[in-house]
Order: sequence, then structure tokens, then C-alpha cells
Amino acid sequence: MLAPLLFSLLASLAAAAPTARWQDSIGASYFQTNGLAGNQLVANYIEPSGKLVAGSAVWTGGNGSATINMPGPEVNHPDPLVSSNSVIVVGKQVLNVNSGSNTFSVFDIDAADPANPKLAGTFPSYGEFPNSLGASADGKTLCVLNAGKVNGFACYEAGASGWSHMAGWDRTFGFNLTTPPMNLPGTPSSITFARDGSALHVAIKGIPPPANSTAQLQPGSIYTYAITGSTLAAEPTKTPAQLPFALVEDSVNPGVFVSPDPASGFEVFRFGANPSAVPGTLDGEMAVCWTAQSELTKSFFLVDAVTSNVTEISVDPTTLKGTVKSHHHLGTNAAITDVAIGHRGTYDLMYVLVPSYRAIRAFKITAPGKFKFFQHFERYDLPQGTELSKGFNGQALFWK
Ligand SMILES: *[C@@H]1O[C@H](CO)[C@@H](O)[C@H](O)[C@H]1NC(C)=O
Ligand SMILES: *[C@@H]1O[C@H](CO)[C@@H](O)[C@H](O)[C@H]1NC(C)=O
Ligand SMILES: *[C@@H]1O[C@H](CO)[C@@H](O)[C@H](O)[C@H]1NC(C)=O
Ligand SMILES: *[C@@H]1O[C@H](CO)[C@@H](O)[C@H](O)[C@H]1NC(C)=O
Repeated sequence: MLAPLLFSLLASLAAAAPTARWQDSIGASYFQTNGLAGNQLVANYIEPSGKLVAGSAVWTGGNGSATINMPGPEVNHPDPLVSSNSVIVVGKQVLNVNSGSNTFSVFDIDAADPANPKLAGTFPSYGEFPNSLGASADGKTLCVLNAGKVNGFACYEAGASGWSHMAGWDRTFGFNLTTPPMNLPGTPSSITFARDGSALHVAIKGIPPPANSTAQLQPGSIYTYAITGSTLAAEPTKTPAQLPFALVEDSVNPGVFVSPDPASGFEVFRFGANPSAVPGTLDGEMAVCWTAQSELTKSFFLVDAVTSNVTEISVDPTTLKGTVKSHHHLGTNAAITDVAIGHRGTYDLMYVLVPSYRAIRAFKITAPGKFKFFQHFERYDLPQGTELSKGFNGQALFWK
């Protein structure tokens, strides 16, 4: 009887094999390769367990670029764009910047098969070295930030026939930068709408003192452009900052924003009538440049590219002070970067990009102070055809 049993077992395995990943996936994760001679968007399915499974690598129709790490030549490296939000999801689309082509690409997501996005078009960034995207909470307005020689931003509005340029919202900064920029000093990092639609905030880094110097950091800034109806203020109000890499608005305290910041670990802002900023301190921190908030615990998770530490903090909305709740160390030289978190009811799922390994690390967040590593998604797990560029960046999620 063994043979027929084995046969029927094999038959049932064979029947199971073609079950398409997209049928049981609950969503997808996206990042970009940032290839200098051809950029790809890489999409992977999220299984019900939270684990990633290879999806597809799709050409974006543009090229990546990379900041110049003096005195090195122009080569790709982890953190090539010195920014956050190089890949974002807006409604049923995923978008990425092509910093070497001065464009961004828009892909349509099929909710039934989310790791198989289709290129819908590329759009000019109206500047040089686009490195970040930001969308309004209603998904109707989109802005692209330029951090090169021609720096500033341009915005688009959603219409029946796709995204159209809102020329009245173009703004230039006039910073003395090159294309590509000389690494991070003085570069814009991210562009973020206030959730209530009242303002557009741009994070701009200061200029750190040279290594081993006792000189002070030349402060950076948050530029805040008021939005009234469909009009964007011509000039921003400016709040001093350190080296802000992003601004993430607290989901429970509107107007409170957490910024990952390699100068001290993080900085917390409150915008409004009397803007304020409180720098935080993380012991042993070297290069915290990315963060995301957990819906479940309201904690912020700070990612340090040099120490390879993911540190959870809670933020007091009154004092703007942050307190360390827990941390996870990912191993020497992991060079972890972009992070995204999704809420799944009784837990949250967190995905951290590891560009040096061409990999992703997945974590489950279950309570304040509790988050646990559960998947190494390695380079050999990537979709077929993924170009193993050294400049992987971005992390954005879509949920069915
Ligand atoms: C991308 O780079 C390649 C190689 O340098 C070049 O031939 C191509 O024109 C570039 N494409 C775009 C869209 O910039
Ligand atoms: C712009 O930056 C370059 C390189 O740092 C410097 O040589 C030049 O003097 C600066 N130009 C202005 C107008 O500040
Ligand atoms: C800074 O000082 C340390 C210790 O004295 C030394 O090892 C390092 O090479 C110095 N770095 C630079 C850029 O001068
Ligand atoms: C990681 O973070 C924890 C908590 O902030 C800290 O105690 C530890 O020293 C850090 N590790 C490294 C390698 O920076």
C-alpha cells in the first residue's frame, strides 16, 4: 500500500505547488535597486505569516545615482540618496525616484497580485537628483524633492487621467549643491505633508564639523510651507534642526514629528504657532537616519546604519522627550537603512532593508518594548532578474 500512498501524497504536493503566491499574500514590500545604468523596483509578496516571498523586479525607465563620498569617485553605495521615502505607496500605486534621470516612476498595483506592479509612466522632477517623495494623507497631492545642483521641489495632483504637474507649487531653495551632492552636508532629505493638510515640511540637513574637529554643527532646518485651500505659501517658515533625515508625524499627537538624526540619534518637533525642537540622545549612536512608527504601540523605531541597531523609543508629546524602550542589534557591518511598518491588528510587521547584504530583515512588534526578529530574506531569495546593485534603498508596503 506504500506505493499508492506515496503516489497520492506526491499528487497532492504537485497540486499544491502551482498555488500562486499572490492568492494567499496579504500585501507586498517594495524597494529600488538604484542601478546607475538602469533602476529597478523590486516587489516581494508578504505571506500571511509576515514572511516575504520573491515577487518581481521591474525596470523603472530611469537610472539611479549616488552621492559622492569624498574623496571617492561616483560609485553606488548603501545610503546613496541620503534621504528617506525614495519609494512610497500612494493608494493603489507605488512610486520611486530615479535620481540619475531627474524623474520619478509610477507603477499601478493590482491588489490581487501586489508584487507584480506595472509601470504606468515616468514624470519629470523639475530639478536635479530627486531623492524623496511625499504624498498628502488623502493621496491627492504628491511632491518630489530635488537635492542636487537644481534643488527644490515640484508637486503633482491626482486627476482622472493620472498625475498632473501643479506649476504653482514649484519651489527652489538655491542651495549651493552639486549633482550628485557631496554626501550629506546641507542636502534636503525628505518632504512631508502634515496629516491635516495644513502644511508641507521639508527636512534639510546642516553641515557637520570635520572629523576630530571641535567645531560646532552648522544647523540644518525644517522649511514649513503653509497650505491654504489649494495655495502653497511662497516662502517657508524655518525651524532650526540638526541633520534631519525624515519627519514622521505621530499618529496620536497631530503636529508632533519625530526625525531620525545622525547628529544625536533623533530630534522631536512640534509645528504650529510656536514651533519647537528637542534633540534626543541615543547612547552609542552613529548614524540614525531612518524611522517608522508602530500603530500598535505608538513607538518609533530608529535605524542606525553604522551600529546596526534598531532602537525603539516612546515620545512624550508634551515634553517632546524620547525614552528608549528596547533595541535589537543586527550584527556588525549590516548597514541597515530604510524601514517600514504595517499594522495587522494584534501585532505590527516591520521590514528593514540591509543594502550591504542585498537583504531584508523582518520583525514582529507585539507590545511596547517587545519586538522580535523572524525572517532573514537574503539575496538568493530575491526575485529572478534583480540586479545586485550596491545602492539598494527605500522600503514601502502595500496591504490588500
Ligand atoms: C541610463 O543610463 C544609461 C547608461 O549610462 C543610458 O544609456 C540611458 O540613456 C540612461 N537612461 C535614462 C532614462 O536616463
Ligand atoms: C559653492 O560651494 C563650492 C564648493 O564647496 C565653493 O567652492 C563655492 O565657493 C560655493 N559658492 C558659493 C556661491 O557659495
Ligand atoms: C580622528 O582621531 C582618531 C583618534 O585619534 C584617528 O584614529 C582618526 O584617524 C582621526 N580621523 C581623522 C579623519 O582625522
Ligand atoms: C544599541 O542600542 C542600545 C540601546 O540604546 C545600546 O545600549 C547599545 O550600546 C547600542 N549598540 C551599539 C552597537 O551601538
